[in-house]
Amino acid sequence: MTNYNKNNPFYSKLLKRELVTKKGSNKKTYHIELDITNSNITYTPGDAIGVLPRNCQKEVDQILDLLQIDKDSTVVHPKTLAKLSIESYLLHHANITKLTGVFLEMVLTKNLSPKQQELKGLLLDENKQDKLHALQERSLLDWIIYLEVKTIDPQDLVSHLRTLLPRLYSIASSQQISSTKVDLLVAMVEYEKNGKIHYGLGSHFLCLDIEMEDKVPIYLHPSKFHPPSDPNTPLIMIGPGTGVAPYRGFLQERTQQRSKNWLFFGEQTRANDFYYEDFLTELEKKGQLKLSLAFSRDQEKKVYVQDLMQEQSQELYDWIMQGAAIYVCGDAKHMAKGVNETLHAILEKEGLMTKEKAKSFIKEMKKSNRYFLDVY
Ligand SMILES: Cc1cc2nc3c(=O)[nH]c(=O)nc-3n(C[C@H](O)[C@H](O)[C@H](O)COP(=O)(O)OP(=O)(O)OC[C@H]3O[C@@H](n4cnc5c(N)ncnc54)[C@H](O)[C@@H]3O)c2cc1C
Ligand SMILES: NC(=O)c1ccc[n+]([C@@H]2O[C@H](COP(=O)([O-])OP(=O)(O)OC[C@H]3O[C@@H](n4cnc5c(N)ncnc54)[C@H](OP(=O)(O)O)[C@@H]3O)[C@@H](O)[C@H]2O)c1
Repeated sequence: MTNYNKNNPFYSKLLKRELVTKKGSNKKTYHIELDITNSNITYTPGDAIGVLPRNCQKEVDQILDLLQIDKDSTVVHPKTLAKLSIESYLLHHANITKLTGVFLEMVLTKNLSPKQQELKGLLLDENKQDKLHALQERSLLDWIIYLEVKTIDPQDLVSHLRTLLPRLYSIASSQQISSTKVDLLVAMVEYEKNGKIHYGLGSHFLCLDIEMEDKVPIYLHPSKFHPPSDPNTPLIMIGPGTGVAPYRGFLQERTQQRSKNWLFFGEQTRANDFYYEDFLTELEKKGQLKLSLAFSRDQEKKVYVQDLMQEQSQELYDWIMQGAAIYVCGDAKHMAKGVNETLHAILEKEGLMTKEKAKSFIKEMKKSNRYFLDVY
């Protein structure tokens, strides 16, 4: 139990940050350790940590400068009604990356510069799609520059911005092993758009922005994605990419209990992207973990976790018939869908089930807490 939440976070010290992808990788993924001493946070593997990132100080300074707003001007938080400085609001509470149509409307109906006059058509109903597209293209700072906005009343500005949302990260440790810290595995979001490098706010905050010993505002986000309460239940874990994070915590606990564990992990290359390689291969050597690895780009034809599930469909089916629980974590858009389809196909092939029977079997697994998803 803990009293901390997104409105009242615990300020945890950054204890360790280690780049776990190697030089040749296309990704930058970090193992991060945060201190939770004296927080009263008690977690179960599978829970997540909510992180409250802060916006870039330089960007906030530029916004205030261009709008000629004194950084200490007081504003009222539109949701909590607390009074705070505009600088603090823009740093910690406002989404300054993605704006809403209401913001554009506010700017385009006041103090029209020639550029604003030109764009006024975006407010017409028939141009709704263009407006949505335009909103995707620019941050608050970009809009201020593009529209040559000279000033906005600070409270008006605050009222027309979205709230900055916390980011969730699966806990990658067990409190039984390390009682005063939480480990996270964070892939830094980095991409190029309009010739400029962009970073994901939360992942950049954790992976590059904060310094060692800095305080990170966090809270516990409990989930139902917990390992089976009975250590005798065989466990099938499917988690490519950062989807492997919660299973490190699961395995830290389960390997003390002589449990049967099978992990399907995948990433781009074995040489550069094998997260927690030493830990996982050591468990495999000790016979505590069956490890199926899909390194998608290590051969000409891509191999994904579903392909390995197909290859070992007989054994997977046997585990399911022995009462195994199945957990899926990671990419929601493609991987989780593919894994779900593959599971159905395996039940049809190995269990000679009809499509309908396989569907109701999986439905029943979900109902009886034997099939869990934690996908994003
Ligand atoms: C329950 C849960 C658990 C999670 N666990 C983990 C975890 O263990 N590890 C982990 O790393 N993440 C995890 N996530 C994801 C994490 O919460 C964040 O969503 C992720 O870090 C991105 O947030 P961000 O603030 O860095 O990026 P944001 O600032 O939110 O930016 C992301 C946005 O950038 C844009 N974008 C991204 N890539 C591109 C591109 N190539 N081209 C154009 N636009 C692009 C998209 O609009 C995208 O929505 C989890 C999510 C959930 C819900
Ligand atoms: N909301 C956000 O802003 C945000 C930010 C970061 C991550 N995410 C999501 O989190 C997921 C995890 O990202 P990650 O970098 O840890 O890993 P990832 O992108 O899921 O990649 C891990 C492995 O999965 C493979 N893969 C790609 N498509 C697949 C499919 N259809 N089925 C099975 N495997 C597939 C990848 O292969 P290839 O790459 O070789 O195809 C790679 O080997 C991302 O996919 C993304 O959707 C969301």
